[in-house]
Amino acid sequence: MSPEQHRNDAVAERIAHIGDQFAIGGEFQYGEELRNGHINTTYRACYKTEDGHLDRYILQRINDYVFKDPALVMRNVEKVTRHIIWKLMRRRRDAAGQTLTLYPARGGRNYIYLPECGGMWRCYNNIEGTHTYDVVENTRQAYQAGFAFGSFQDLVSDMNPVDIKESIPDFHNTPRRYEQLLDAARRDPQQRAAECSAELELLAQWAPEFGKLIEMQIRGELPTRITHNDTKINNVMLDEETDNAVCVIDLDTVMPGLSLYDFGDMVRTATCLAREDEEDLSLVCIQMPFFESLVEGYLDAANGFLTPNETDNLAFSGWLITTEIGIRFLTDYLEGDRYFKTEKPGHNLIRARNQLKLAQSIRSRMPAMQRYVQRLLKAYRK
Ligand SMILES: Nc1ncnc2c1ncn2[C@@H]1O[C@H](COP(=O)(O)OP(=O)(O)O)[C@@H](O)[C@H]1O
Ligand SMILES: [Mg+2]
Repeated sequence: MSPEQHRNDAVAERIAHIGDQFAIGGEFQYGEELRNGHINTTYRACYKTEDGHLDRYILQRINDYVFKDPALVMRNVEKVTRHIIWKLMRRRRDAAGQTLTLYPARGGRNYIYLPECGGMWRCYNNIEGTHTYDVVENTRQAYQAGFAFGSFQDLVSDMNPVDIKESIPDFHNTPRRYEQLLDAARRDPQQRAAECSAELELLAQWAPEFGKLIEMQIRGELPTRITHNDTKINNVMLDEETDNAVCVIDLDTVMPGLSLYDFGDMVRTATCLAREDEEDLSLVCIQMPFFESLVEGYLDAANGFLTPNETDNLAFSGWLITTEIGIRFLTDYLEGDRYFKTEKPGHNLIRARNQLKLAQSIRSRMPAMQRYVQRLLKAYRK
């Protein structure tokens, strides 16, 4: 037996063992690892039922380094998936297969702790007939990403946000992220602050605006909602034939927050064609046609529940969240690259400069972006 074959057999055995812990009927056929996620370990397992059907499932280990309290994450995921199923089934009985469903585990919960397999595991239905893309390549995909996450926010818009707990506290508290940067720059443990003076100066100019959304939330001008917090295109399952969005996945970071955080992160990840660590900054800029498609998709799904204060800040949120990620990369660079994995010297500084360049580009287009939003909103009102 070749080493490769041996490894495959060992993986299949492990997958069958994990699958055995869940309410899955039929005979195990095969298992494979899905490698395009970055956080969890994900396997797909196939079972043959008595009547000869092949059913596929997703077995996933929750990353307990990122999520310090996996049981809290699972309680959030449970509530959100059930609420969405309830809502979809009231609309269309056959819609349930088109959304994530948790399968019960031995012991009566929706997850099981398997020390021999590295931690906490859960089982979902495999969303059939769909695929994912890793990055947005065209405006059609930007539209679908906006539509998918807008639909998600719509589906959970009538849940009570206090029922969902913060799995990563202060995730999008930009003023606090900035304070952490200033603290790192003051201490300067790696003596790197001098190299970052241009970036620190730019951020000091922008700092008065970092608290805008949080302050509006505190004053009750922006509603606290349930948000996804990882709105990348590879968390959207698209129909294999039509490429239309079917549902969003990866619900571990679902938390109470602002709808604008999700939208802002979509602007950051779906409107620029350069990678997050592109060094040629002339390639790093917002592409307006991508923004237009993104916001069209988002409003087609979310226009019904968004308030004017939310729609007034769609462009601003793109600038804010992009800046916030830039702040986090820069902080990590100053701290000595402890949080984000790096592949080369100065990697986090490259990323920080990239994101700040994108933020500048978004900032310079903000009036045009917001004019486009207003034009769309006017068309809905007609
Ligand atoms: N229920 C599912 N049906 C089909 N494919 C899935 C399902 N869940 C996850 N996947 C695939 O596995 C990948 C990683 O899963 P994801 O939940 O996004 O984990 P991560 O947190 O590691 O990104 C997804 O990008 C998708 O391609
Ligand atoms: Mg994912």
